[in-house]
Amino acid sequence: MLAIRLLAEPDRLDTLVLPVRPGPADGDPARPAPTASALPDGVTEEAAALAPAARLTGRPGEVQAQLRPGREPGRLLLLGVGEGDEAGWRAAGAALARAAKDETHVTLAMSADATQAAVRGLVEGLLLASYRFRLTDAGTAPALAEVDVLVADPGAHTATVEAARTTARMTRFARDLTNTPSSVKNPQWFAEQVAAHAADVPDLHLRVRGPDELAAEGFGGILAVGGGSASTPRLLELDWRPADARTHVVLVGKGITFDTGGISIKPVAAMKLMRKDMAGAAAVVAATLGAAALRLPVRVTTLAPLAENMLSGSAFRPGDIIRHYGGTTSETTNSDAEGRLVLADALAYAAAELRPDLLVDLATLTGANAVALGKRTGALYSDNDALAADVLAAIAAAGEAAWRMPLPADYAEHLGSELADLHSSPDRGAGSVMAALYLREFTGELRDRWLHVDMSAPSWADGDDAELTRGATGWGVRSLLRWLGSLA
Ligand code: BES
Ligand code: MN
Ligand code: ZN
Repeated sequence: MLAIRLLAEPDRLDTLVLPVRPGPADGDPARPAPTASALPDGVTEEAAALAPAARLTGRPGEVQAQLRPGREPGRLLLLGVGEGDEAGWRAAGAALARAAKDETHVTLAMSADATQAAVRGLVEGLLLASYRFRLTDAGTAPALAEVDVLVADPGAHTATVEAARTTARMTRFARDLTNTPSSVKNPQWFAEQVAAHAADVPDLHLRVRGPDELAAEGFGGILAVGGGSASTPRLLELDWRPADARTHVVLVGKGITFDTGGISIKPVAAMKLMRKDMAGAAAVVAATLGAAALRLPVRVTTLAPLAENMLSGSAFRPGDIIRHYGGTTSETTNSDAEGRLVLADALAYAAAELRPDLLVDLATLTGANAVALGKRTGALYSDNDALAADVLAAIAAAGEAAWRMPLPADYAEHLGSELADLHSSPDRGAGSVMAALYLREFTGELRDRWLHVDMSAPSWADGDDAELTRGATGWGVRSLLRWLGSLA
């Protein structure tokens, strides 16, 4: 990962990056922001002349390079930061990571009035946009290795930089897990990755249940979905338990390591990206590791039901009745609606045994998420207005996106089954909404303190864009860490 140092004075000036803001009124030319540290003679004046000459607007992420052969610095980069808020600096950091990918070292002079939020945005943007997945893009890793950031008082930003760095590191970990091919990424492998990251962290405990324990305790949904695969299912329970916690949160993430659809097999195009069907599990696990790394004073127990939805002689069938943890039964007429079956077990277990204050799940649950909201926005569900507002605020502050969706009472009636307590995939209602209504049935006494995000769509990016890189986005890690931090 790119090394970022905060300094009061420049160390070496090969490439100097100066922030540019929009002019004070519409139509005014963009101008360089006054910076916190002394720069070589003439550089500030040169940048001030260059900004209007290059017709810069100062919008976040705009970049203009100026070569200065024989002088110091030898290269000047003007970087649009918009209003200089966190989102503007995040976009600017991401643009800088791309524009300077062939340099090895750059120095950025932060604007004199830069806030903690600005520093956070910059660091996250740099570290997220410079991500490359190690298997597929090994040859194209950016050269940029060091960014020196000039601020008036480096010591004042230590905690901010640490929070941003941990957030980015964990988002990158979630991206790694999600990008990994499913030939490697079976439930056991996923559990081993988490175990390696959780080892030797004080107050962090991992329990992994295998098929025998799942059977003994009645996790029928996880066993049914995982039954068709030669790679057996697991349930991870990762517990961050600091002594000073006042609130207990349970996070649940869908961990289907590959979704063929099962006997209700998916067509070719729909199956292509189904290695990402564990992005919810990756996000909740990574956020929990982040909470532990930052020692956030909130207890977080994370459940990741992991299974491969395969088709074989031992696969579950359309029409089977599944008995979930706690005894609720589901009629399952479509084996491709597998995510809600594994989540049902985990939610029921959380409500009955862990009894947290708040229960939140993230899942790549339905294709309908993208139909309703496009490729960038998660579908958020909760009956609790305050919880919904808090999580939406955290999502927005983190630079991710979600939209609150309804849980209509009359659609809930469609969950009825003649054979079982519930029908898992009714053909009425709306896809993402019905999945959420089904999950709610398993939340027991936590029903009014539960929140669900269907993040199928924003879990993946079709191309590089700002801090996102093509492939897995790590959606949710930034938002969850923000939200957990706000509870502390
Ligand atoms: N993993 C899929 C949902 C999905 C689709 C995620 C596209 C990301 C991109 C899920 O298991 C699924 O197959 N859902 C079905 C539900 C249906 C059978 C009720 C769907 O969305 O079609
Ligand atoms: Mn499916
Ligand atoms: Zn799925």
